[in-house]
Amino acid sequence: MENELKFEILINSIADKGYGIVDDFINPEMCSELRKRLLANLNNGSLSKAGIGNAAKLQKNVEIRGDSILWIDTDSSDVFEKKYLDLVADFIQYMNRTCFTGLRSSEIHYAVFPPNAFYKKHVDSFANDKSRQYSLIVYLNEDWTDADGGQLKIYQDSGDIEITPLGGRAVCFSSHLIPHEVLPAVRLRQSLTGWLKK
Ligand code: OGA
Ligand code: MN
Repeated sequence: MENELKFEILINSIADKGYGIVDDFINPEMCSELRKRLLANLNNGSLSKAGIGNAAKLQKNVEIRGDSILWIDTDSSDVFEKKYLDLVADFIQYMNRTCFTGLRSSEIHYAVFPPNAFYKKHVDSFANDKSRQYSLIVYLNEDWTDADGGQLKIYQDSGDIEITPLGGRAVCFSSHLIPHEVLPAVRLRQSLTGWLKK
């Protein structure tokens, strides 16, 4: 599928339902290469426990979220990280061209949730910094099944939905408007989580 078609699916679905899902946002090679990098970083101790809120309010609280993260350098020279940064930059350009979103940048991190870890219901934009406009998550899991858990639960007046974190799948939604939660999994749950910013 053309990238622009994937972008259209996400955008149309966000306009329609508040969130978009597209499978194979990244191809299987890219998914496994990025997963390898995530696991290498995890194994050499490069990930850190994620906090809640931005600098001023940083707390580390596994009662709220149990993931560990590593930010991707915006000028990474790694070929697959670069490919992903380019894909996100193309998505931003496409959104700006077709929806006048005025997005200017992104920030992206690797994230792992160990078995039984979760992230309680929240919205992604900070109380004192509204620059995050859209959340974009791509899952890096191999052979994930519904029984493995780890669904992304999106809260909606019309009924909550649960999204299985299949490798290559992308989910995108407004960072201001959409309350969501990560349910516990029985396996290590791996993703790239990012924000498209103004
Ligand atoms: C987050 C988050 C969702 C997911 O990191 O803010 O909500 O499915 N992640 O990993
Ligand atoms: Mn979130």
